[in-house]
Amino acid sequence: MARYTRRFLLQGIGLILLATLAFLFWNNKKVQEKKSAALRGEEVYASHDCTDCHLAVHILREKAQKREVGLIRSRTDFDELVKFLQTDARHTSFVIMDDKDRSDLIAYLRLQLH
Ligand code: HEC
Repeated sequence: MARYTRRFLLQGIGLILLATLAFLFWNNKKVQEKKSAALRGEEVYASHDCTDCHLAVHILREKAQKREVGLIRSRTDFDELVKFLQTDARHTSFVIMDDKDRSDLIAYLRLQLH
């Protein structure tokens, strides 16, 4: 009886370890995907008209390192921010860029908020 209980326990621990490893692997992949979307988003920001009126990417990076306020000053609610960009007349390029560019740019903006 004790032998079966021990085997059962060991199998349980093995399963939990496997599940943990699988989760860590999956989670790491998600983090990497988010990072690369934000990096592409930085390029979208730099290559559209954004920097005609806003700070350049390298300055925003410096500010982020020093934890200074960068691009986003007033709209700290993300949904409100996106709604603003969708409707403001100065931000038509946000509306007309293709979906992939826009979602990468949004990933970049999300990082700017933190
Ligand atoms: C013609 C000038 C102009 C261009 C081009 C422009 N913006 Fe703006 N943007 C502004 C101004 C002015 C504001 C502030 C408006 C306000 O607060 O009412 C603003 C606000 C914002 C905000 C919100 C900041 C905050 O503190 O709430 C974000 C984010 C933003 N712009 C991103 C972008 C991105 C991304 C692009 C390129 C796709 C872009 N802007 C292009 C002029 C511009």
